Amino acid sequence: MLFDPLQQQLALQNRVVMAPLTRSRADADHNPNALMAEYYGQRASAGLIISEGTSPSPNGLGYARIPGLFTAEHVTKWRLSTDAVHRGGAKFFVQLMHSGRVAALENLPQGARVVGATAVALEGEIYTDSAGMQPHAQPHALGAGEIPALIAEFVHSAQLAIEAGFDGIELHAANGYLLEQFLNANINTRSDAYGGGASQRNRIVLEIARACVAAIGADKVGIRLSPYGVFNGTGEFEGIAEQYLELARELSEIGLVYLHLVDHSSMGAPPVPAEFKAQLRSAFNGLFIASGGFNAAKCASGVKFGAGRFSCYGPCFY
Ligand SMILES: Cc1cc2nc3c(=O)[nH]c(=O)nc-3n(C[C@H](O)[C@H](O)[C@H](O)COP(=O)(O)O)c2cc1C
Repeated sequence: MLFDPLQQQLALQNRVVMAPLTRSRADADHNPNALMAEYYGQRASAGLIISEGTSPSPNGLGYARIPGLFTAEHVTKWRLSTDAVHRGGAKFFVQLMHSGRVAALENLPQGARVVGATAVALEGEIYTDSAGMQPHAQPHALGAGEIPALIAEFVHSAQLAIEAGFDGIELHAANGYLLEQFLNANINTRSDAYGGGASQRNRIVLEIARACVAAIGADKVGIRLSPYGVFNGTGEFEGIAEQYLELARELSEIGLVYLHLVDHSSMGAPPVPAEFKAQLRSAFNGLFIASGGFNAAKCASGVKFGAGRFSCYGPCFY
């Protein structure tokens, strides 16, 4: 099963999906490099590789030395990695991760700023190369009038991804980064069109998904979600299941190629309820990627969500 090819919305040489893993190995100016190409090339016997979190914007480079994908040079340098992966036969999606308030100003390029759904700083500290551990910066709360520019950054990056040779993009709407800062009611206390209710909290993700699909095609846009996760100040809230099911149904209508669910219970986080996983799977018509704590035995045991429509397994190999 695990090594059987997948011939569905994505054609993959097997069902092993490499999870996105931040490595912080990019050069100055957040350019990918030969070391990263070697790393990805070594793993190209997988079916699908999802890249480390990669920022679509100077404002989204909250961690030290994470790569970007918003300049012509980023495109040229990412080609080293996309070529290496394709030589091994894997498909390669770039994970577009805007870190939002998970950031220190020291990590951002000159002129960039830390942004968030609200102006509340994340508790705790983050590593910087220039000053060691630093408190997370206080974000600028994005006004509704600033959202179109953010959407345009995602669209531009999605287009550059295709130019750089990626097979698609994964919108990182998980793990407490900018898009989940809008989804999560514990963080998003806005009362405008982007907060105040489930539909309003979902809105930014849906607008970005629609815009990226219009730009590069639905078969090239996937998404990662982590409902019930607790990372980066997120956590459960009232109505979470209904909100995420509504989100999954709408993403399904937009036609996204896959929904990638994070379950970090094997790393000590609260488990994602099994019944909710089955409902989420049923709400979404595309491919479904599970992640968290998979090994060959667990895959072989044939974990199934919903009516046997579980599509890919997501063990990551380091
Ligand atoms: C070092 C490290 C870096 C990670 N970087 C990312 C990332 O960039 N984007 C993301 O969505 N998840 C990231 N994750 C989470 C993993 O993708 C995955 O969800 C997690 O390792 C659980 O899967 P596993 O039990 O198979 O390891 C990272 C995890 C680790 C340990």
